[in-house]
Amino acid sequence: MKCRVCREPAIIDIRRHNANFCADHFLRLCRDQVTKAIEAFSMITPDERCLVAVSGGKDSLAVWDILLDLGYQADGLYLGLGIGDYSDESGRYAREFAAQRGATLVEISLPDAYGFDIPNGSRAAKRKPCSACGLSKRHLFDQAALEGGYDVVATGHNLDDEAAVLFGNVLHWQTEYLGRQLPVLPARDGFPRKIKPLVRLGEREMAAYCVVKGIDYIVDECPMAKGNKHIGYKEALTAIEATSAGAKHSFYFGFLDRASARFQAEAEADQADLTPCTECGSPTSTEVCAFCRLVTRAGGRLPDGDHDTRLDAWFGDHVHPDPVVDGAFAGDPDDRDDPDPDPADHEPVLVDLAPTRRSPKDARP
Ligand code: AMP
Ligand code: FES
Ligand code: ZN
Ligand code: ZN
Repeated sequence: MKCRVCREPAIIDIRRHNANFCADHFLRLCRDQVTKAIEAFSMITPDERCLVAVSGGKDSLAVWDILLDLGYQADGLYLGLGIGDYSDESGRYAREFAAQRGATLVEISLPDAYGFDIPNGSRAAKRKPCSACGLSKRHLFDQAALEGGYDVVATGHNLDDEAAVLFGNVLHWQTEYLGRQLPVLPARDGFPRKIKPLVRLGEREMAAYCVVKGIDYIVDECPMAKGNKHIGYKEALTAIEATSAGAKHSFYFGFLDRASARFQAEAEADQADLTPCTECGSPTSTEVCAFCRLVTRAGGRLPDGDHDTRLDAWFGDHVHPDPVVDGAFAGDPDDRDDPDPDPADHEPVLVDLAPTRRSPKDARP
């Protein structure tokens, strides 16, 4: 097995590229694929500040590493979700990487800052752990980016993740989510831009990237996510890929090229007017945002009302005299800001850029 580029012994075969690569050329391929994604979707420029959400897993540490190598201004953000040993261990990997690279890691602990953790809080709030977790992550990513003055939030979602989310959304014809399943979501209404630079790279490549680069990462999946639908969709697509190399890539990129625009109008029409949450100041379509409602129901502590001034400045021009709590919405009010009422219970962090308002017919069985 020889490297396609230099003919030296290869360390990895990538069937969808029909090629093998040595360590150096494999690392170059990973960087090139990220560059290609960044350019194709206008994700970020070198003068912008990026906050990389790092879970301590292979994908998010790899994307942070690649963005730094490519010369981007990238700080990390680690959220302590209070999921027992899993959180302790994943936080250690994130800190270790930051120390090795001399990079800045911002940390937020959900239990310390808001007085609840995901296992107990989701139980008290009667939500699935992954749903409460996804909602908390989306909120805290946005807030940390705004407070830190970052232009962009990057996550480690890879091709396998995106293809699996697409598969779930197609399976259930979640058309309003299909219109928003993009590798970059523009900044809007006080939310930072969100990017997924790893969409051209698969899970196996990211694991290999970390091994070759000597990056230690948490191998275990989150214990709360075991057996969820997203993992099932991933396994189904991996089974298809085994006999049809390139299937995940053509499914996802074919969707972006040929289908995604058809769902955009619905996704845009679905975006409600936003006003500041009366508790935390975040843009929301309800008086109190979904995260603050979760905090209350989970038995946690709400923030002290010290809203971020950048948000106040934005709302200066946009505030509506009456917050939108209208009769047009007939679903569970707690789902209004949360794009994940159920469909894939391990909701991808980036699907939601903005709260959605549903029509009464959506609430009917
Ligand atoms: P997941 O929802 O667990 O599949 O994670 C998707 C992406 O969200 C990861 O690639 C990270 O970029 C980010 N992420 C997940 N968990 C955390 C965390 N605890 N802190 C910061 N970012 C996270
Ligand atoms: Fe959120 Fe597991 S990472 S519930
Ligand atoms: Zn080579
Ligand atoms: Zn709020």
